[in-house]
Amino acid sequence: MCMNEILKPVPLQTPVTGKKVFIKTYGCQMNEYDSERMGDVLAADGYVQTQTMADADLVVLNTCHIREKAVEKVYSALGRIRVASNERAKAGLTTQVAVTGCVAQAEGKQILARAPVVDVVAGPQSYHRLGEYLARARDGDRVIATEFEIEEKYASLPAPSPRQTRARGVAAFLTVQEGCDKFCSFCVVPYTRGAEVSRSSAQILAEAQRLADAGVREITLLGQNVNAWHGKGNHGSPMRLGELLGEISQINGIDRLRYTTSHPIDMDDGLISAHGDLPKLMPYLHLPVQSGSDRILKAMNRRHGRQYYFELVDKVRQTCPSIALSGDFIVGFPGETEEDLEATADLIRKVGYAQSFSFKYSQRPGTPGADLPDQLPDGEKVRRLETLQTLLSAQHAAFNETMIDRQMTILLERPGRQASQLIGRSPYLQPVIVDASAGEIGDIVEVRITESGPLSLKAVKTGQV
Ligand code: SAH
Ligand code: SF4
Ligand code: F3S
Repeated sequence: MCMNEILKPVPLQTPVTGKKVFIKTYGCQMNEYDSERMGDVLAADGYVQTQTMADADLVVLNTCHIREKAVEKVYSALGRIRVASNERAKAGLTTQVAVTGCVAQAEGKQILARAPVVDVVAGPQSYHRLGEYLARARDGDRVIATEFEIEEKYASLPAPSPRQTRARGVAAFLTVQEGCDKFCSFCVVPYTRGAEVSRSSAQILAEAQRLADAGVREITLLGQNVNAWHGKGNHGSPMRLGELLGEISQINGIDRLRYTTSHPIDMDDGLISAHGDLPKLMPYLHLPVQSGSDRILKAMNRRHGRQYYFELVDKVRQTCPSIALSGDFIVGFPGETEEDLEATADLIRKVGYAQSFSFKYSQRPGTPGADLPDQLPDGEKVRRLETLQTLLSAQHAAFNETMIDRQMTILLERPGRQASQLIGRSPYLQPVIVDASAGEIGDIVEVRITESGPLSLKAVKTGQV
């Protein structure tokens, strides 16, 4: 899998001042985080970001490989980029193109072969050297970089300025671990992101402090398997995510904490207690279960059964009674029967989800699930997905309804669609629309919810925090 056709690092040439980069991000929050980091790497080389592809001297496609059609999506985007690049060439302008992220990792050479417009292919653990790859490409090379250099990556990423950080918003992502050792039989992540690697607590705390200093008020710790995070405390003692959240919550200025995505098997007691002990930790937990059938959970290699999940949810709710749960579900895994689907529906009814993401099983090349017999036809997967989504949507709407007349704090994050409105975020991640007189972006204000819809809430301000 690992290959790096760069023989030796090339020193950076004169910074390309005044150049513009257009970064398009697909996939998960970790890819969003990576796109910001690539923005930092490129800013250090003199690039400024543009939202218009036609203006861009460099186009970066940060790709996702989790479900099928991902690859086709990349090639059709590359088709559009070729057209834009040809137009620019007529005006005497050159355009460089880099494909990064999980499709880059998985498809490496094929991308260069199929898309002559691409100059650089760099996997998720190699993008810290983007400037060097682009310089090399300007000298006529086409570069593939798919090494897993995760520690080196974090050690060498430049920090953005406080102004740049604050411009990205008052709620920030902070990746604390990458990769995954779980090998669920449907999933490409262990192959595209590599083995589980945790960043050091010192590095994470320094980044959290930098975010706080820039005016960020909410941090979401990220990892493909975030609660597998492990590190060392001050005296070299082992440290897990609950303790890390405790340390970050001592940073002045950071008032809200979240983490995602958790595997049920790694929800240890320390992390569960953090939900009782840390007022800054939001009462919301994304805890994907994928299926409610023991037989399917086993075939998926999820390492736990439905009873374990029920007991875990009970434990979490006993520690933090106000907690809301969200989940991920896959329908139509090979061999899934009507009984298995009903077991998932039954689990959903018993647990009750405030939010969820549900998907048709997608056969991913190279994963064990792809070779299983009894793959289901697409029409059947569509029908099953509709069944679950009807149930889940009703739960989400019912959850939002329970918000009416509730007092809560919201973090004001962005302007609303109308100039007279601002959008804040509830502790349960719901967008909350308030009158712009409620405060400034970055304020945490006390509100009373007045209306609930399927996707957002409305509220009036009742106080300042
Ligand atoms: N680490 C997380 C999931 C990361 S991937 C966990 O263990 O829960 C995000 C979601 O994409 C998964 O939870 C799963 O629901 C979905 N997913 C992953 N691979 C898939 C596939 N092959 N087909 C359909 N959905 C998939
Ligand atoms: Fe994929 Fe999550 Fe399973 Fe890891 S734990 S293999 S990221 S679904
Ligand atoms: Fe997609 Fe890679 Fe994230 S496959 S979901 S971008 S880890």
